[in-house]
Amino acid sequence: MKIAIIGTGYVGLTTAAVFSELGNEVIGVDIDQDKIERLKKGEVPIFEPTLAEYLDRNSKAGRLSFTTSYKDAVDGAEVIFICVGTPSQSDGKPDSSFILNAAEEVAKNLKSYAVMVIKSTSPIGIGQQLNDLIAKHTKEDFDLAACPEFLREGTAVEDSFNPDRIVIGTKNKKAEKILLDLHKPLPGERVLCDIKSAQLIKYASNAFLATKISFANAIAIICEKTGANVKKVMQGMGIDSRIGSSFLNAGLGYGGSCLPKDISAFIALSSDLDYDFNLLKSVEKINNDQIQNFVSKITNSLGFESPKNLKGVKIAVLGLAFKPNTDDIREAPSLKIIRLLLDSGAQITAYDPKAMENTKKVFPNIEYAKNPYSAATDANALVIITEWPEFREMDLEKIRKNLKKPIIVDGRNIFEKNRMAELGFKYLGIGI
Ligand code: UGA
Repeated sequence: MKIAIIGTGYVGLTTAAVFSELGNEVIGVDIDQDKIERLKKGEVPIFEPTLAEYLDRNSKAGRLSFTTSYKDAVDGAEVIFICVGTPSQSDGKPDSSFILNAAEEVAKNLKSYAVMVIKSTSPIGIGQQLNDLIAKHTKEDFDLAACPEFLREGTAVEDSFNPDRIVIGTKNKKAEKILLDLHKPLPGERVLCDIKSAQLIKYASNAFLATKISFANAIAIICEKTGANVKKVMQGMGIDSRIGSSFLNAGLGYGGSCLPKDISAFIALSSDLDYDFNLLKSVEKINNDQIQNFVSKITNSLGFESPKNLKGVKIAVLGLAFKPNTDDIREAPSLKIIRLLLDSGAQITAYDPKAMENTKKVFPNIEYAKNPYSAATDANALVIITEWPEFREMDLEKIRKNLKKPIIVDGRNIFEKNRMAELGFKYLGIGI
């Protein structure tokens, strides 16, 4: 089957990798000429484990190619995935203009029947708008569907080959059959529904994941006030199969390009429907408050009343990416925390295994270290922001010797409190 993929970001490239690996002829299109040139040369513009191998193998096998030409991509494609971005606008609502532009370009170049599939997270109701727009620009027969994406950055390829569910949103039987056939080699339960329900499954899923995280963070505050341990509380809760243990890690809250954007979009879209989504507003507020609470914890650990002038205080920051196994710093807690610390006059030395290059574009003037040990050298405190596996393996004796004061403030609870006390650290986590 020939498949066109519009947009070569995380979702587009991963979709391209999966469907070409499954033997389809896939062509990826993007308006960004530079990106397409790099992809043609075999360069992958994002860091995502195993993605480069899949793209390389399938390009060499002649099943995968990239172009800036909608004409070449759309010609003969039976399924066209729209995977372009839907960035947040200032009112929180998603900007659908990239989807609308992509659909218009596809329509103008359509020469035979195709199923157009929205993979991007997009406002509920965009289906009708797209139908009208496409019909205006083509005389060809087409159907519209929504197949939302549930992949996580860092495990995008693995998630796409092993999805929990495949949502196929269309009321048209022909389109449904084509999409069921296309997804046949993949595991996961099929959810067949209309376009709006498919779109809502995506928003509701991300909202629920964010709710679990903020719930854990709210319980962490209660734990700190009572002396309980949030790790144990969440373990005890998560064993209940009705609750489930994932996404109950208290910490610095959710970041990244998806959850924060989708939560504010969902709040704004609900408000348009005359529904005040107070639950989600609280989820968002708890998430935002985590940052200031953490910075106060750092300043308190140093013996200052917050807010206080941290002039001359050196703080080692471990972890810049919004989560481990990615170089992505979009909406990363690290950026807000570093900003607040710099505003208080602190001096920052940061280390991250993958995200330093991206962070240098935001903070060109802070120091960057080669490893955790040199970051810790002569620092008044060490702060853990991202739970990279290598931080769990650190030689803590060496870290303690390098630090000016043996203070660790851990935003991800990666160590055991008692062990850290035994090693001579003043160790503060979140709700432990
Ligand atoms: C998220 C969803 O998990 C995917 O299913 C979805 O497809 C994607 O958004 C999207 O909408 O495209 P992602 O943003 O890659 O994926 O990252 P997650 O692994 O979900 O982590 C999100 C944030 O929550 C991270 O900042 C992470 O540190 C934080 N988190 C996660 C916690 O603070 N506690 C937890 O227990 C779990």
